[in-house]
Amino acid sequence: MTRRLQDKVAIVTGCGSVGPGWGNGKAMSVLFAREGARVFGADINGDAAAETRTIIQDEGGVCETAVADVSKAADVEGMVNACLEAFGRIDILVNNVGIAVVGGPAELDENTWDHIIAVNQKSVYLTCHHVLPVMERQGNGAIVNNASIAALGWAGVHYGFYGATKGAIVSMTRAMAIAHAKNGIRANCVLPGLMNTPLVHAALTRVYGKEGDIETLVRTRDKQCPMGHMGDAWDTAYAALFLASDEAKYITGTELVVDGGLSVRFA
Ligand SMILES: NC(=O)c1ccc[n+]([C@@H]2O[C@H](COP(=O)([O-])OP(=O)(O)OC[C@H]3O[C@@H](n4cnc5c(N)ncnc54)[C@H](O)[C@@H]3O)[C@@H](O)[C@H]2O)c1
Repeated sequence: MTRRLQDKVAIVTGCGSVGPGWGNGKAMSVLFAREGARVFGADINGDAAAETRTIIQDEGGVCETAVADVSKAADVEGMVNACLEAFGRIDILVNNVGIAVVGGPAELDENTWDHIIAVNQKSVYLTCHHVLPVMERQGNGAIVNNASIAALGWAGVHYGFYGATKGAIVSMTRAMAIAHAKNGIRANCVLPGLMNTPLVHAALTRVYGKEGDIETLVRTRDKQCPMGHMGDAWDTAYAALFLASDEAKYITGTELVVDGGLSVRFA
C-alpha cells in the first residue's frame, strides 16, 4: 500500500456490481480506499453499494454510500450534498456508471435511445454540473470518466448506441479539461476494452440463458483479445487510480486505453 490518494475524497458512481465478483466501480472504490482515499460510493442498487462499503470498512478504510440513480437530477444533487456533509470536500469524481446495449438505429427503439443517453451520458453532465463548482472553490479536482474503446470504433459487436454515448463522454471530457485547466481541475477518460466483469456475465445470461453457452461466449471474448484473455476490473481500476492521483498532475484531456492492445487492431 503506497497511499497514493492519501487525504483525498473520491466520489465513485456505480460503486457496486450487478453480480458476484468485481465490477469496475467496485474495484475502483476498494482500490482508492486502500490508497488512502475517503470514498463516497453511489449506486442505484443499495445492497450492491453496501457490499462495497462493508469490504472497505472491514479492511479499515473509510467509505460512505448513497442510493442514487445518476440519470436523475435530484438523486445526483442529493449524492453530492451527502458527500459534502460526510467529508466536506470532493477531490476526485469517477463517473463509472454505464449500461451496454447491442444495436443501432435500425434495431433499437426510441425509448432505448433515451434510456442509454440518460444513464451513460446525461449522468456525466449531472455529476459534473454539481461537482465542478465544488472543485472550483477548492482550486483542485480530478475527474475520471469511464468510457470504452467503443468510443473509438467497432469493438467486435454493433455498439451503435453505446459507442455513441461513450464517444460523447470522451468529447465532453476533453472540453471540460480545457475549460477548467486554469482552475486546477483535470479531466480524463479510461477506455476499457473487453473486460470480464459481472456486467458481461449478466448481459450474456440475459441473451443466452444457459450457463454452458455463457462459458463458450466468455472463451470467445477471450480469443478476440490480442493477449488471449479479457482484462478485469482491476486493470480499469489501476488506470483510474493513476489518472485520479497527483502522479498524473500534468495529464488532462486524454484517454487511457486499457484493452490489452485490442483497439490497435481497429487501425
Ligand atoms: N465490462 C466491460 O467489458 C466494459 C468495457 C468497457 C467499458 N465498461 C464500462 O465500465 C463501467 C462499469 O461497468 P462494469 O462492467 O464494471 O459494470 P457492473 O455492472 O459491474 O457495475 C455497474 C454498477 O453500476 C450500477 N448502476 C447501473 N445503473 C445505474 C444508475 N442509473 N445509477 C447508479 N448506479 C447504476 C449497477 O447497479 C452496478 O452496481 C460502465 O460505464 C461500462 O460501460 C465496461
